[in-house]
Amino acid sequence: MQRWRWALAALVVVGTAGAVAAQNGSAVTFDEATVLADGCVNCHGPGGTGMPPIPAIAGLAPETFIMLMQDFRADLVPGATIMQRIALGYDDSEIAALARYYAGGWTGSAP
Ligand code: HEC
Repeated sequence: MQRWRWALAALVVVGTAGAVAAQNGSAVTFDEATVLADGCVNCHGPGGTGMPPIPAIAGLAPETFIMLMQDFRADLVPGATIMQRIALGYDDSEIAALARYYAGGWTGSAP
């Protein structure tokens, strides 16, 4: 139970950082993507390798990752427990940055 509280507290912090970046209209940097990804560690494990029953997100193809996050955000994933609420905290450029980060193929700023 305690873990979930920490996860939610981390989300508030990460969500605030994301909002500031969006207001600046700046592309997401690698360092910022690392901070965004910190909000995923409590549940998906360090590096996103998964902590059963929570799935791994490391190594997902960026297109798959983006599709999953957009589907969560639009509440299109039946049976999802928490990701719909989490995905609402990230805009398209942040999701793209996270997709590249977890695919391990960071190439600079997000689109
Ligand atoms: C509070 C725990 C929690 C946090 C924090 C969390 N997730 Fe999740 N994630 C889940 C759970 C549980 C699932 C399974 C779907 C569901 O029940 O919502 C999931 C599923 C996913 C999936 C789908 C994986 C697949 O193969 O189906 C992706 C992508 C994902 N999470 C990305 C992220 C990202 C990116 C972050 C950080 C910004 C994050 N998650 C933070 C709990 C979490």
